[in-house]
Amino acid sequence: MSLAIYRKYRPASFEDLLGQELTINILKEAAKQNKMAHAYLFAGPRGTGKTTLSRIVAKIANCEKRQNDKKFREKGEPCNACRICKEIDEGHSMDVMEIDAASNRGIDEIRNLKENIRVSPASSKHKVFIIDEAHQLTKDAANALLKTLEEPPSYAIFILATTEPEKIPATILSRAQQFYFKYPSLEMIVRKLNSIIQKENIAIDPDALELIASSAEGSFRDAESLLDQLVSFGDKTITMGEVEGMVGKVGFDKLSQFAGTLLSQNVKEALSMLSEIEDAGYNLTQFTKDLIQYLRRVMVLKYNPEMEEMFKSELMASHIKVMVDHAKLFTDQHLNLIKNIINAYSQMRYSQFPIIPLEVALVESLK
Ligand SMILES: Nc1ncnc2c1ncn2[C@@H]1O[C@H](COP(=O)(O)OP(=O)(O)OP(=O)(O)O)[C@@H](O)[C@H]1O
Ligand SMILES: [Mg+2]
Ligand SMILES: [Zn+2]
Repeated sequence: MSLAIYRKYRPASFEDLLGQELTINILKEAAKQNKMAHAYLFAGPRGTGKTTLSRIVAKIANCEKRQNDKKFREKGEPCNACRICKEIDEGHSMDVMEIDAASNRGIDEIRNLKENIRVSPASSKHKVFIIDEAHQLTKDAANALLKTLEEPPSYAIFILATTEPEKIPATILSRAQQFYFKYPSLEMIVRKLNSIIQKENIAIDPDALELIASSAEGSFRDAESLLDQLVSFGDKTITMGEVEGMVGKVGFDKLSQFAGTLLSQNVKEALSMLSEIEDAGYNLTQFTKDLIQYLRRVMVLKYNPEMEEMFKSELMASHIKVMVDHAKLFTDQHLNLIKNIINAYSQMRYSQFPIIPLEVALVESLK
């Protein structure tokens, strides 16, 4: 695999971008009607498709097929086959400039932009300026940008991408059509990883794939990079052990099995499992954090079963089912257990023997 997975599988069309339906619907409708705004703002969490969408919009603005074929234009997608679409995908279109506001805080970049914008496009209809990490612009650079935004030449389109929109001056925001990206659900990230492993012939069991997805904490890119690291040893079979080692976490099965011993008051089994987990080299602090999170969800499901709905975006349906079963075992006594584990957690971070505070907490709460 020569090309990094996240670049190879970057969505090329609106329809492949997952989890941002609202934004996509609006942009696609506008594309069908051939209406472009002069400035866009794409704001949202990292690795959710802001740069990807910026490139799709740049293709919409300049795709040759869209310009010559009215029927095709009504699809509201770029063709991804003409010279211009290809150049944009490969990142060397003369008329699409990607500016990284984070480098040197954008001072030289905005100066170049002001020079560049005076010259009309070389071979396309529009000149597109994609300003990544736009919140990093210095005050001066932002002011210079604002002046340009106030009187842009008709061929110019600006796309600002940012993870921190609240840091962008209101004067700039108000000139852009704004779109806010959402966190994708775990299920959606799993779906994307599944389509990649099929195309790459990677063998991995569903639980291990799910652990990759949940470790990425809502970033498609992080999930894809993890998968990339796991296959970069040339081996196309990935085991749960490899994933656990890479992300430094235990998988769902082990975690829920352990929680099960606590909920059924089985101190003996809990202590042996814990020592096995330590011997296997897992980070106990991380494990305890995940355990607290697990027990908290079980508690919530016990006292407010309707919150199952809210867990659907962060957990797999099959895992929620296991937790719902565990909720039946939860009693008031387990409130103390959670408190004691939280205490142990804060002690173990500074302890030379992190397992001991946790063991004491378990014995004390379950004996
Ligand atoms: N919504 C999505 N649907 C499918 N794949 C996605 C999506 N968002 C991101 N990806 C995958 O993650 C990679 C990185 O996405 P992208 O560069 O667009 O993220 P970003 O939002 O710009 O992140 P950052 O804030 O870190 O710049 C893409 O190449 C693609 O493989
Ligand atoms: Mg980006
Ligand atoms: Zn095209």
